[in-house]
Amino acid sequence: MEPRKICNGVDLLGALDWNRRLFDSLIPLPDGTSYNAYLVHGTEKTALIDSADPKMADSLMQQLEHVERIDYVISQHSEQDHSGAIPEVLKKYPGAIVLCSPKAKPILVDHLRIVPDLIRTVEDGETISLGGKTLRFIHTPWVHWPETMVTHLAEDRILFTCDFFGSHLATTELFAGTNPYVYEAAKRYYAEIMMPFHMEIRGNLEKIKPLAFDYIAPSHGPVYDKPELIVSAYADWVSDRVSNLVVIPYISMHGSTEAMVDHLVSALVSRGIEVQKFELSTTDIGKLAMSLVDAATIVIGTPTVQLGPHPSVFATTHLANALRPKLRYAAIIGSYGWGTKAVEQLAGLIPNLTVEVLGTVLCKGFPGEETFLALDDIAEKIREKHAAL
Ligand code: FEO
Repeated sequence: MEPRKICNGVDLLGALDWNRRLFDSLIPLPDGTSYNAYLVHGTEKTALIDSADPKMADSLMQQLEHVERIDYVISQHSEQDHSGAIPEVLKKYPGAIVLCSPKAKPILVDHLRIVPDLIRTVEDGETISLGGKTLRFIHTPWVHWPETMVTHLAEDRILFTCDFFGSHLATTELFAGTNPYVYEAAKRYYAEIMMPFHMEIRGNLEKIKPLAFDYIAPSHGPVYDKPELIVSAYADWVSDRVSNLVVIPYISMHGSTEAMVDHLVSALVSRGIEVQKFELSTTDIGKLAMSLVDAATIVIGTPTVQLGPHPSVFATTHLANALRPKLRYAAIIGSYGWGTKAVEQLAGLIPNLTVEVLGTVLCKGFPGEETFLALDDIAEKIREKHAAL
């Protein structure tokens, strides 16, 4: 695809990865993704901001075919999907130097074997002039690596943000506009990648507030031409607010745990509580992660396998712990055939979740009246807690 013009002297380059279906061999990408690079032409110098995943370096290099000179390659984030094509770019433009944050330099050397002499670090707030276009670098650590920074182009009021505000979306649409699907894709991206660092991101949102920009240009997904929408969405996601929502990841082997989950769902809904239920052998874990952005409560449902939780529940609980959602309350329910240590093992998997455990309900075999009453009791406790939020 040809470069796409954002405004005079600023083009979107990079690659659309329509067919990629997993990121990090873990995260589902229902709509593929893109690796955006931006070319900024001043009257004296030219800068390339970010590059592309090395698997798609050819797409980027094709778009640079008629670009005679690049003076600066700005690496806002060292992860390979944005930095991986930098060695190819440096090969084509031997006079170019890489600009990055101080923490990024050793990472670029280690990951890409870039010669250290070709890398110059930039301080927080430092500016460079390309001639009529001024780039200011703002360090925004932990979105989602320690070295991340964003770049502000003052004259054209553009903020380049790499992963920050990104969305895994392959689309030919240059601008996000008010397309609700872009915001859903951005929420999925936030949930899977950024949520563990929501406190740091809160600080970075404050840091970019004084900047004047009409566009946010991330390195995944379309450019935001109504940036206030994505900034306010992020402000909500990183806030302390939680919703009157219970998320139930579960799996069932012979129907007992499923019967318990269904009873609990009904008991919660009749109490005015929204529920999102995820059957783990079929669910999209990205959807589950998105629901954890807002939920006040998680209820984990598991049968017992060799005394412990089902392996799918084990893996999902580990992931939920790693994502550090804002959850306030938790409960564990499930069933077993002859004995169980599922609760003890699951409890040991969630040290990052600062939740109040509202109870556990375990039943041997198929649930009977006593179990259903215990589930009603859990639902009532959740109602009381949510009412006080
Ligand atoms: Fe899109 Fe953290 O890389």
